[in-house]
Parts: sequence; structure tokens; C-alpha cells
Amino acid sequence: MSIIFDSHNNTFHLQGKNTSYIFQVIRGGYLAHLYWGHKIRNYNMSNPLSFIDRGFCANPFADDRKFSLDTIPQEYTTYGNGDFRIPTYEIQLENGSTITNLTYVSHKIFKGKPALNGLPSVYTLSDDEAETLEVTLEDDIAGVRAMLLYTVFNDFNVITRSVIFENIGCENINLLRALSASVDFRDDDFQLITLYGSHTNEKNICRRNIVPGIQMVDSARGASSPQQAPFLALVRNNTTETTGEVYSFNFVYSGNFTGQVEVDQYKNTRVAMGINPFQFNWMLEPGKCFQTPEVVMTYSSNGLDEMSQEYHKLYTTRLCRGSFKNKPRPILINNWEATYFDFNAEKLKDIIKSAKDLGIELFVLDDGWFGKRDNDLSSLGDWFVDKKKLPNGLEDIASYANILGMEFGLWFEPEMISQDSELYRNHPDWCIHTPNRDPIVGRNQLVLDLSRHDVCDYLIESIADILSKNNITYVKWDMNRHMTHIGSSALEPSRQREVPHRYILGLYHIMETLVSRFPNVLFESCSSGGGRFDAGMLYYMPQTWTSDNTDAICRLKIQYGTSLLYPPITMGAHISTCPNHQVGRITPLETRGHVAMSGNLGYELDLTKLTDEEKLLIKGQISKYKEIRNTIQFGRFHRILSPFEGNETAWNFISKDEKEVVAFYFKTLSEPATSITTLKLKGLDPNRNYINLDTSEIFGGDELIHVGITLPRIKKDFISLMFHFKSLDDY
Ligand code: DGJ
Repeated sequence: MSIIFDSHNNTFHLQGKNTSYIFQVIRGGYLAHLYWGHKIRNYNMSNPLSFIDRGFCANPFADDRKFSLDTIPQEYTTYGNGDFRIPTYEIQLENGSTITNLTYVSHKIFKGKPALNGLPSVYTLSDDEAETLEVTLEDDIAGVRAMLLYTVFNDFNVITRSVIFENIGCENINLLRALSASVDFRDDDFQLITLYGSHTNEKNICRRNIVPGIQMVDSARGASSPQQAPFLALVRNNTTETTGEVYSFNFVYSGNFTGQVEVDQYKNTRVAMGINPFQFNWMLEPGKCFQTPEVVMTYSSNGLDEMSQEYHKLYTTRLCRGSFKNKPRPILINNWEATYFDFNAEKLKDIIKSAKDLGIELFVLDDGWFGKRDNDLSSLGDWFVDKKKLPNGLEDIASYANILGMEFGLWFEPEMISQDSELYRNHPDWCIHTPNRDPIVGRNQLVLDLSRHDVCDYLIESIADILSKNNITYVKWDMNRHMTHIGSSALEPSRQREVPHRYILGLYHIMETLVSRFPNVLFESCSSGGGRFDAGMLYYMPQTWTSDNTDAICRLKIQYGTSLLYPPITMGAHISTCPNHQVGRITPLETRGHVAMSGNLGYELDLTKLTDEEKLLIKGQISKYKEIRNTIQFGRFHRILSPFEGNETAWNFISKDEKEVVAFYFKTLSEPATSITTLKLKGLDPNRNYINLDTSEIFGGDELIHVGITLPRIKKDFISLMFHFKSLDDY
């Protein structure tokens, strides 16, 4: 890994583990993109830029009709100087002009990777792991400096990018657009992969041809959202799980974003990603800086599996932090689907007792324990215990769990406020709202204005108070609505469009403070399920409730789609009752188990109502999960059959030391005249021999990979199979 500056050609060559990224300073100090792809040893200008005199082109140098920013592949682009494609930044000056012209001034190459200011990011543990290039661009007339940051890593095919804007003039400048990265490709031979969905239907995979013009994903909801994920990948038409090129972009951010792809008139493709410029501004006073969140770009020449391996490894080892990063996650029971708001201390204790008998390790008390919250009409913001439901407080429940040898966890929805709450009566201006209009509720609640320091301080103190007074080792951090009537009473009119980003900065500040103050608490983020399942949240909270949809069959797609970016250890996956509360489906407990055991296992049903047969099955699931937990949570995950392509789904896990393999197969509907599936496992050591722990059959890794296991024909809907192998040499 290294970053090489060739002063003869003015090129930067960034080399990661297996990838090269190259750009050049050209006439006028513009940055031209030259190459991103498979690693090369030396770059010797084999693909120089083509300068052609084209129609409708503006020429910044009157002496050269062939030089136009509209036809040059670039690194960081603007509108107004002749490039009519997607701009990456736009700045308004006090004189009203939005014309800026940032050009190269200098650069620095240094070891390591600097942290981002108040923002989550990928990190290094030692400076030797990565190298960073900082390219400084300036526009004297506008009084603006931009530092483009690129980091490459020894062990990853990853490039991270962020930009710092600095006001070096003496007037305010108004950032209207400040994206984090763009890349220009010299062809349009791509398909686009994105993730989309809704509440209870997150992370569907969409793959489509790109077409001339702009196509995009975005959110203007105040959160990264379940509707579109802050991710996109360009793949070749023939790219599969294991073959073909993939260029991917994932935004480490939890708020409004955009990811855009533009195919231009000459069949070049531009990708740009960053904070959504729609409804955004940032007033930058003289001397002040603004840093954009980070985009993590990966290159794979071996298909989507390799892309996912990069993200999984990078995010588990260099994004997630804290004491739980490398710790097995507890198997939990959450009372939400068991009781909803209708519980008392006795009911909770009965659930805890049943959970203990089954081998469950953590009890999580969900919504409804505070204020006077018997439904979702009231009390958000009043973070004090409801003595009617829990007369002896949280302490009583926590110590009951603790005495039985279980841990205790608690639900919060810190970012929200109910109009029927003490907090709202005392601070009606603490919610996001605009002057002279009644705020719009969602799930009967309003969003707290986290752009305000006093609100952030209140939240930190009220949550810290509960965490320090009770033996709480887990927190579920929920967030159940998007922003409307966006505005803050604490900000001047010219800064109102700063609110969504200031909110996210406030949220990050709160989370940073709490996770550092309570390093032994495991935080799980949630936004009505996977509504804010993004890399920004994972920096603070190493796992996320993947979806409110606990139906095993729906979960196949949700977990499969999520796995494109995020590893199984980050995915909360619970076994719930049947008929399922979200879709009414009845599925075998075994199948529900296999789906949930493919993530961070938990239960979410009334355990006191289980039959003896169900108890036996669940006991078995739990002890099996404990046996394979390290492989599921810390091993490699490979997708085998996609639920988006048919009736069957399969995936397998390989332990870090390659000695254990766990494979799951699911078939949704039984079919009459169908072929017999052969399940070919992935990622095993071909030279090891593996024993199937249930049948004692022995197969070579190569046989399992290339020949595969012939599956039985089962005449039932919603079936699943699990295969558990150990390497024979170590068995
Ligand atoms: C939405 C979450 O996703 C659910 O799991 C549950 O915690 C409810 N909120 C509680 O209101």
C-alpha cells in the first residue's frame, strides 16, 4: 500500500491491497480522474485523457477549444465553469454569485488516517495500516479552500473520502452543496445496484441498467431511512456473486443523503455521493471549517461476495468500536411482541424466569416502562419509571434478572417527544418546528431538536442518570418517525437548512458521550427496525434491530439484502410467535430459528405460553447457537442462493480459523415438478476434510464447494435445513 506522487506527470497513484486509484493535476490546476480498478504496479500514462473539440463545449482557456470541463473525467466538480454534469459542491458568496473555481495548490501524503470532526468514520489502529492523501484546492476570489482527503489501506480494497471546506476569506460563504466524493468513469457499461424498502420491508436489492441522464437514491427524511440506503454499486452486466467488477459507494452517515449516477452525452458515467443538497445549507464564517461525512468506496474484481467481504471485515474491525466489538453478543428476550405496552412487574418476571430456563442470557424491557405510557400517545421525553406498572422500579426487574444470572437491558426513544409529556409542557420549543405552524405528528410524536445544545445535554443527563442508577448492560435506542416542518427556534433564519445536519451532529455527540461514559453497555440501534441501519450508527452502536418484520420468510430477503453491506453480527434477528404479527404467516419454529440464528439471535414472544414441545425445540436452538455463535458472529458469511431470484435461499458461515462451517438452506414454497437442489458451499478450505456433525459423513472442502450436497425433497412450505461441519483434523 502506498500513495505515489509522480511529479513528472503530476499524477497521484493510490494503491490499496488489490486496487489502484489514479488522478492527475492538469492545466489550470484541475484534477482529472484517470483510473480506478485492479491494482497495477506502475502507472505510465497508458490511458491519457483525450482532448477533442466538441459541440456546445465551454473552454476555460480561450486558446484551447479542445479543453472543456464538460468532457474531462474529474475528481471534485462544480457547476458554472462549463461542466454541466452533477456538481459535487456549490457555494454562494455574499455578492450572490454561486461561481467558484477550486484548483490545485498543494498536497500532503502522510501515514495513518485522521478522525473526522464530530463524525463517524473508519479508523486505523496503527498509522502503518493506511496512508492518506490530502489535496488542497483554493479559489482566491471566493475565499474558499477545500481539502480532499483520500485514505487507502494495506489490507483492504477500500478508499475512504471526505472533504474539508475552509473559509479563507473575510466574508461569510454559504455552502449549498458539499458532497463527499465523486468518480468519473470513461464508459457506461454498468448496471446499478441499490437497496430500497419501507418499514417492515427493508433492504430489497434493486439491480437495473443505467440509462442516459441522472438516476439516484436519496433521503430527505432526516434519517438514512428504510426507503433507500445510502449505498450504490456499479457492476458490469456479467457481474455475479463471485465474478466481475464491482465499484461500490457507502456513506457513513445517518441523515439526509444523495447517491447519484449520471450517464453523460459521451457515455461517461459520473457517481457522486454525500449529504443531500436538497434543503441543505451551511453558513461558514471566516476562519471556520466544515467537514463532509465519509464515503467508503470499494473495488472488487470478483463479484459482490468480495465487495461484501470487504465491508464486513472493515466494519467489524475498523468501524465498530467499544468493548463489544470482539465480544460474543448475548441471546436476548425482548418483551415487545410478548406484551406490547400491557405489562406489570409480575408478567415481566414470569418471562424472565421462563427465559432463564431456556438458556437466554439477557432480558430487554421494551417500550412502555416510563411516564404514563400505556400506548403511543404520551410520555416520550419523560424518562422516569412508571410506578403504576413497576412499583419497585427498574431496580426490582434488573435485580430479579441478575439473581437468576441474566442481564438486564432497556429501551429508549431518546430523540422524540410526546406532546402529552412533562418535557413538552416545560419546553414546547424543544421540538423541531417552524414558526406560526402547528407541528405535524407521526406516531403521535414530535422530533426533538438535537441541533440545540440544551436538548442534547438534557438527553445525555437523563439517560446517563438511568444507566448509572440501574444495572443495565444493554440499551435499545429506537427512533420511530421522520422529520417534518423542519426548523429550529435556536437558529437564525439564514441557517434553517442547517437543521437536519446539525441534528445528526447532535445525535452523534450524544451517542459518543454515552458510549464513552458507559463502555460496558451494549447499544443496539433501531428505527422501527432497520430504518437507520447505516454505517454511521454502527460506529457508535455495534448492532441494529434489522426489521420490525419478524416473519422468517420476509426476513430472508431483509437479511440477505442487509448482508450486502453489513455483517451478521450487526443484525438483530428474533424468533417471534405464529401467526406472525406483521404478516400473519405460520412458519415452523425450526425455520424461524434458522433465520434468526443467521444473525444476532434473540426471542420476541411470550415465553410463558410455550408448549413443552416448543420449549424443547427452543432449548435446542439456544444451545446450538451457543455452540456456533463465534462462527456466526465472527466468521465469514457467504451468500449462496438469493431469495430475490427464486424460491430458495442459502448462505453459509466459516469460522475465522476455517475449522467450522455452518450452512443454512431455506425453501419458501413446496413445488410439484422441480429439480433437486445441490447446495454448493462457499469459502471453505478445499484442502480440509469436513465431518457433518449430524450424519458423521465426511467430505473434502473441495467436494462441498464444487460438487455440493444433494438436498432431500421435502413436501412442505417454509422449510429450512441446517448443516454443521467441523474440520476433521481438529474434531
Ligand atoms: C419500534 C421498534 O422497532 C420495536 O421493536 C419496538 O421497540 C417499538 N418501536 C416500541 O415502540
